[in-house]
Amino acid sequence: MGPIQQPNPFKPWADTLRELGVMGLVRESVPVEASALAPPQLVPSLPAESPAPVPLPVPRRALAAAKPPVTRPATVPGYTPPDDPVGNPPADIWASAPDLASLADCTKGCLACPLGPGRFRFVFGEGNPKARLMFIGEGPGKDEDQQGRPFVGKAGELLDKMIGGMGFKRDQVYIANVVKCRPPDNRTPTPQESQTCLGYLKRQIELIDPSVIVTLGATPLKELLGVQVGITKVRGCWQRLDLGRAIPVMPTFHPAYVLRQYTDEVRRAVWSDLKAARAWLEEHP
Ligand code: URA
Repeated sequence: MGPIQQPNPFKPWADTLRELGVMGLVRESVPVEASALAPPQLVPSLPAESPAPVPLPVPRRALAAAKPPVTRPATVPGYTPPDDPVGNPPADIWASAPDLASLADCTKGCLACPLGPGRFRFVFGEGNPKARLMFIGEGPGKDEDQQGRPFVGKAGELLDKMIGGMGFKRDQVYIANVVKCRPPDNRTPTPQESQTCLGYLKRQIELIDPSVIVTLGATPLKELLGVQVGITKVRGCWQRLDLGRAIPVMPTFHPAYVLRQYTDEVRRAVWSDLKAARAWLEEHP
């Protein structure tokens, strides 16, 4: 008689993770093939002309002394924003908003770019106002526009799993977007729309003062960090956002892209980026 086959106690757990689509995005060790545990094949490196990777470590400092941006956002050529302070909030008001609630309050009526008149709800962002970990996406989709909350659709479900895989709950982190109003047909916001909204996001980041930012997809990389190199090359490479202090930024793929390209390679890449961000947080309590 041959050796008795013991049932694999981890199999139901691994099957559940596979069904949820989070295999490879979880912290716990689960029995997966050795090849799936291998480090990412592709170690992206930045071309010389791109911003230098963040010099680590960056000390966490209060931003009280940081100068808020006082330039009025660019307005979109061909679009005339209203001149009232609700439809076109003055920069000296929002740039000195003392907290997130005041910032949301003075920007939520914004019509400074053409996305404003088309929105159903202004999606300011949500989460822990003192989060150490912040995620920045592109802009609200249909579900977000309906609910007034970021990442609540399919991509949001995956983002929640990514956050959970890092060992956090959604309400422990902060989630925001480059633009706060839904672009029609979920198109990418134009550079002018993004730049018009960017001051709000920067003030939001200053107020939250996160230790690490994870950017999702190409738009925050381009519009917030000014990195013109494609996300496939830059993901996984530390960047730096200078807002009074240097904040380390880990670019990764957008969850909507992961859902479209649901391959081991893409999921391993995202998980490797998230692990790097988590390691930074653990090393800099
Ligand atoms: N995609 C984004 O970039 N942001 C959201 O809030 C939802 C989907």
